[in-house]
Amino acid sequence: MTTSRIQHPALRDRIMSAEDAASLITNGTTIGMSGFTGSGYPKSVPLALAGRIEAEHAAGNPFKVKIWSGASTGPELDGALAKADGIEFRLPYNSDPIAREKINAGEMNYFDLHLSQVAPMAWQGFLGKLDTAVVEVSGITEDGALIPSSSIGNNKTWLDQADKIILEVNRWQSEALNGMHDIYYGTALPPNRKPIPLVRPDDRIGEKHFRVNPDKIVAIVETDAPDRNLPFAEPDDVAIAIAGHLLDFFAHEVKVGRLPHSLLPLQSGVGNVTNAVLSGLMDAPYGDMTAYTEVIQDGMLDLLEEGKLRMASATAFSLSPEAALRFNRDAMKFRDKLILRPQEISNHPELVRRLGCIAMNGMIEADIFGNVNSTHVMGSRIQNGIGGSGDFARNAYVSIFMSPSTAKGGKISAIVPKVSHVDHINQDVQVIVTEQGLADLRGLSPKQRADVIVKNCVHPSYRNAIQDYYKRARQNSFGQHAPTLLNEALSWHQRYVETGSML
Ligand code: COA
Repeated sequence: MTTSRIQHPALRDRIMSAEDAASLITNGTTIGMSGFTGSGYPKSVPLALAGRIEAEHAAGNPFKVKIWSGASTGPELDGALAKADGIEFRLPYNSDPIAREKINAGEMNYFDLHLSQVAPMAWQGFLGKLDTAVVEVSGITEDGALIPSSSIGNNKTWLDQADKIILEVNRWQSEALNGMHDIYYGTALPPNRKPIPLVRPDDRIGEKHFRVNPDKIVAIVETDAPDRNLPFAEPDDVAIAIAGHLLDFFAHEVKVGRLPHSLLPLQSGVGNVTNAVLSGLMDAPYGDMTAYTEVIQDGMLDLLEEGKLRMASATAFSLSPEAALRFNRDAMKFRDKLILRPQEISNHPELVRRLGCIAMNGMIEADIFGNVNSTHVMGSRIQNGIGGSGDFARNAYVSIFMSPSTAKGGKISAIVPKVSHVDHINQDVQVIVTEQGLADLRGLSPKQRADVIVKNCVHPSYRNAIQDYYKRARQNSFGQHAPTLLNEALSWHQRYVETGSML
């Protein structure tokens, strides 16, 4: 017989079905959900809530809720609630396709703020009142502390701030997670903020479990359900080429003494390209590396296992189903090498700047001056959200943005005369990499940046057009600091909207 994950005797009385727990949530409630990049999100109460919302709508009654999370969740949460037309407002990061469609159709309000700022803004009172927390945990200790799950996100803040707490205790999560977390309780509001006492990625500065007021726990639902865990895509040739340029850059930086042999703490976004970079690091001559990042990916488990990576600090896992099984099987092996922290700490600007992270993130497009758009296709359709890219890019030791040089089968150039939306201003972007090459923009003026980006990063099918645009801008722009033809700068995007191609 398996032992219960709920060790606190009195709390066992609050076990109920997901439907009964969902019935405690009313129309208009603001809910703080756990979940970050598809891990550690509640899987059964949101589904039951979506069923309830659909029934209320069928009966002609209004029912919508406001959802705050850590970052992206899974189809059982964002997908189900968006499908039920149950989300009035959502923050901070979404990658669910159904929710994305509702947002882009103008039917759902969405605010994609920097991930490190969500908890502080909640404490500052800027986001309004939090009514209910729905948080997945992997267990409850004898004295009523909560053992976190596969992500921490904003859970500490939700548990502290909400009037009511609904817990999902998920048996699927490895018991070896117990002890891996580091929950820092030292944050405060100005003027009482103190320096965060973390000087190495390995430092533990907090507690292993969440503290919780047991009187606020109104329901506990037991689950046995996997995280979202998207399949791992083998890096394609384009991703391998991008990774190759970046690894050459690292080798050069080590050679000239601007990076140590262990590099500096790595931050890496998720996706095909960053996986290729992590795979490339397996064969690179670096050792004793660390990661101070948002998510632990498949490639990081490999690097940890090989001993190339000494340890990794993050706020969540983002693993393929195979890697998740492997982690659950071998969790004890990884336990001392992984630390999961609240996202306000994993992404904290003070810490990213102090540690000197190497920030590697994907982008939608960059312009010839190195301004980067990470979020909005054709300036208006949200893809996902800014996530933690801004937390890291502005404060990193070196801030790198990567993308294939074209999208949608070559119909779109990722390097454009002017970005259609700006997430990262050129001062926050030091290196741009496409499969065509790498542009090192450090210390360059806008005109010098344009020269190197056009030369190194643009796809050949767009090179003549961008050279022609830039040549004319050098002649006819209002000013010659950042030469721009205002009536033409966004014409590539307009052409795509009208014809389906920028060519
Ligand atoms: N114009 C239009 N669409 C574009 C595009 C462009 N310039 N560049 C990419 N896309 C589309 C792709 O076609 C793809 O669409 P699909 O899902 O319909 O196939 C989608 O955006 C994802 O692009 P992909 O090439 O698969 O790259 P990715 O998975 O690495 O994602 C971002 C790229 C920018 C969307 C992603 O990195 C992101 O959301 N970044 C912001 C948050 C972030 O950086 N988080 C990490 C911080 S820790």
